Amino acid sequence: MSGRFFVGLMSGTSLDGVDAVLADFSGARPKLLGNSHLAFDPSLRQELLALNAQGSNEIERSMLAGNALARIYAAAVADVLSKARVASSDVVAIGCHGQTVRHRPAAGFTVQIGNAALLAELASMRVVADFRSRDVAAGGQGAPLVPAFHAAVFSDQAEERIVLNLGGIANLTVLPRSGPVLGFDSGPANCLLDQWASVHLGRALDEGGAWAAGAQPIAVLLERLLSEPYFAAAAPKSTGRDLFNEAWLRRALQGGEDPQAVQATLLELTARSVAAAARRSSPAAQRMIVCGGGTKNLALMRRLQALMAPAAVETSSGHGIDPALVEATAFAWLAQRALEGAPGNMPSVTGARGPRVLGAVYPG
Ligand SMILES: Nc1ncnc2c1ncn2[C@@H]1O[C@H](COP(=O)(O)OP(=O)(O)O)[C@@H](O)[C@H]1O
Ligand SMILES: [Mg+2]
Repeated sequence: MSGRFFVGLMSGTSLDGVDAVLADFSGARPKLLGNSHLAFDPSLRQELLALNAQGSNEIERSMLAGNALARIYAAAVADVLSKARVASSDVVAIGCHGQTVRHRPAAGFTVQIGNAALLAELASMRVVADFRSRDVAAGGQGAPLVPAFHAAVFSDQAEERIVLNLGGIANLTVLPRSGPVLGFDSGPANCLLDQWASVHLGRALDEGGAWAAGAQPIAVLLERLLSEPYFAAAAPKSTGRDLFNEAWLRRALQGGEDPQAVQATLLELTARSVAAAARRSSPAAQRMIVCGGGTKNLALMRRLQALMAPAAVETSSGHGIDPALVEATAFAWLAQRALEGAPGNMPSVTGARGPRVLGAVYPG
């Protein structure tokens, strides 16, 4: 293979935009040479949100949204390469997660849009995309796929660790000192918090979790939300906006609740559901390494620290990767795995019948 570097592109369930990284995996630890974040404009964000639910003319609309995404992805790739002063010919491949608009492994499919062919054309680079479908085809959840990368970079033989990603959805990876890695989506992280903040604050997010921190959670509402069977279900399991959406929240509301107290409840829901899942799946964990945009929600981080004590809760910064870039780096790494013909899934995590090489390759 010519070139040395990989680009990773991640746009997750938060629908905030795309994160791009330029990574070098030739050393013992991944080295990040540059990164970029391009936000989605409000109309694309709205359309992607709408495409997460049933609607009219879905095929045409999702293809057009996929084209729009490919253009943004290509711009993010160009940005990261120019910042790092690296030529496209030095890039082996782009690992492109795409944008999930439907995730239904039980029905045998998961859909990430983003027109990888157009991205390969615009960027003139090889693209690896559609990482999840093969795992679903092998009977797995197709998610989470980041645990193999978490295991490669965050494992420690001296202590059992948990890696927590706080994206739109929260996913946990349990890294035991030895033995199989576990991983699953625990439930919502930011998606409901963002949605509620956008309706009641008119902002895309509750900065630092300050609004939520200014009120007390509503106990009965919290209990009702936590009674969702998904939280108690055994792994392997994965979820998305298919379940944790505005309608799900509305069904639990009585009406007349103080909006700020609802935000406090949603923050507590994320903290409690994550901590309960962590304790159940990894009672021995001594450290929780947190990544994803939710690390910027300081109120949420404080609640996690309180609920997980005496285990340490800290961001991935101290472990060599900016928390905002862990997922994008994982997809760069998964692209490398795909091209090496190495498996990217972990059957102990996804429940697939076996290890599988993930992704479809679009030549540059
Ligand atoms: N300053 C902040 N304060 C509170 N929350 C934040 C802040 N910055 C980012 N976030 C949260 O992180 C989310 C983005 O996280 P990200 O890891 O990109 O998720 P995803 O992978 O689902 O796109 C935002 O939607 C928001 O909820
Ligand atoms: Mg994001």
